[in-house]
Amino acid sequence: MKNEGFIIREFQLKDLDRVLYINRTTLPENYPPFFFVEHYRSFPKAFLVAELNGEVVGYVMCRVEYGRSLVGERFIVKKGHVISLAVLPEARRRGIGTALMKRAMEAMKNVYKVSEYYLEVRKSNTPAISLYRKLGFKTVNIIPRYYHNGEDAYLMARTANS
Ligand code: ACO
Ligand code: ZN
Repeated sequence: MKNEGFIIREFQLKDLDRVLYINRTTLPENYPPFFFVEHYRSFPKAFLVAELNGEVVGYVMCRVEYGRSLVGERFIVKKGHVISLAVLPEARRRGIGTALMKRAMEAMKNVYKVSEYYLEVRKSNTPAISLYRKLGFKTVNIIPRYYHNGEDAYLMARTANS
């Protein structure tokens, strides 16, 4: 049954190597260790990991930014940017990705007071796109050749108050 057997908790520095490993083995967008540490220091409540049987199997890392609203009328808003989400293949399809996203969205809204969330995702990344759609994200723009290999990104966004 979904939502059983795993826990979601805040990232700690002891998780860094494991998170780097998950990032490198699941995503083409890889970042140096300091990038993760900076996000942890700046937005610790929105950097979460999932543990399954005592092992970290997934993470979500976010950032809070000011910028043009992607979903509303107000010009400049506080936005929660989902930088990176990943779950190891053997731990997928049990609701971990969804739980990570929900907890991160809650923290961005309640702790960092964002009024909307956004992220970029490869046009070909059907699993992630369908997860985001289920969470209420809509495609608000296409960013041509966003990725190194020339692939376009969907810019997806959602308000934080629904
Ligand atoms: N095919 C189709 N739909 C899928 C798939 C799939 N392979 N995987 C997930 N979904 C959709 C389904 O609708 C699913 O609901 P269901 O299982 O009831 O059908 C829903 O997403 C939720 O799935 P979860 O179990 O919560 O998600 P999971 O823990 O499997 O993690 C994730 C999904 C994070 C996208 C995982 O597949 C992954 O790590 N992929 C590689 C890394 C990646 O692409 N990350 C996102 C990049 S974009 C960014 O980081 C901002
Ligand atoms: Zn981004």
